[in-house]
Amino acid sequence: MKKDRILVTGGTGYIGSHTVVELQKAGYPVVIIDNLSNSNREVLDGIERISGIRPDFVEADCTDLNALKKLFADYPGIKGIINFAASKAVGESVEKPILYYRNNLNTLLNLLDLMGPNGVKGIVFSSSCTVYGEPDQNPVTEQSPIKKATSPYGNTKQISEEIITDVITSGAPFKSVILRYFNPIGAHPSAEIGELPNGVPQNLVPYLTQTAMGIRKELSVFGDDYNTPDGSCIRDYINVVDLAKAHVIAVERMLNDASEDKIEIFNLGTGLGTSVLGLIDAFERSTGVKVPHKIVGRRAGDIEKVWADPSHANNVLGWKAETSLDDTMRSAWAWQLKLRERGIM
Ligand code: UFG
Repeated sequence: MKKDRILVTGGTGYIGSHTVVELQKAGYPVVIIDNLSNSNREVLDGIERISGIRPDFVEADCTDLNALKKLFADYPGIKGIINFAASKAVGESVEKPILYYRNNLNTLLNLLDLMGPNGVKGIVFSSSCTVYGEPDQNPVTEQSPIKKATSPYGNTKQISEEIITDVITSGAPFKSVILRYFNPIGAHPSAEIGELPNGVPQNLVPYLTQTAMGIRKELSVFGDDYNTPDGSCIRDYINVVDLAKAHVIAVERMLNDASEDKIEIFNLGTGLGTSVLGLIDAFERSTGVKVPHKIVGRRAGDIEKVWADPSHANNVLGWKAETSLDDTMRSAWAWQLKLRERGIM
């Protein structure tokens, strides 16, 4: 049976591109809209090499309402949206709050505004474990308290969740699945797509693989005096392909009206906490490549420890993070090697 068309905003980005591949594998025709602010057109080639299908692509900014209207006119029959399009650097958001509120909130408002008139049945929203702040207790469930955001980026995720809730409560004729990601890492096992941050990476794994490659001299471990077994911060690192697969299930739930609930929220994590030093160990163990690193002071705004209770997603979505940390680290390294092979980094 022919499946409905899905609009993926931010579809050439890191998580977006992996999700497009999984949607295509499940038989969904995809149209991507992306302004290429943190990605490039070559990602479309990577997607096509994996799936054999080139997704439709519109280069435009989702804050541009007219561009979105044109997209809906040009690509009729869009039944689901997955909204990845957002700015996501925590530090930058502190310096440029207006940019963050404008990009992240106007994008969402534009999409919500156009969904009803265009007959779209649901929107999957990329949220983050950042909404839990520093949790009083780990693992966190979806009922754990939402803490005051520590950055404009984090605040855009909290406000976005509230906007979606208000719009749907007002009687809007569509559903939403809000996915709270923990720390997505790794790359597609084919090494055709992966994470390619602009400039100096802010996140741990791209910094680590670039250091292993010799592009960066040394990885700084931000603090070893936290109240954790080895003193470094703990996160729930989740394989990006596992994460991508959850989006396909979420889309299917919305399109098939599998739930009575008009809004559903799921934590997407593994349920396992790994420290920064533990992650470096896992990389060295699984690839045999050493990562020069040193302990430095804490990074402002860092959470000490957070990991997910993913049982709601496990039970309700029938989804589980499956890939081992070692396989994920190997995939991140294979992607870094591919970037070198292609002369990109
Ligand atoms: N870290 C280092 N050295 C580095 C980079 C990071 O020790 O060079 C540590 C951090 O201190 C932290 C852990 O590695 O303990 C993970 O840091 P990341 O920057 O990779 O990710 P965060 O946990 O800080 O997550 C943040 C936001 C998320 C957001 C994510 C990606 O909280 O909402 O960045 O942008 F999705």
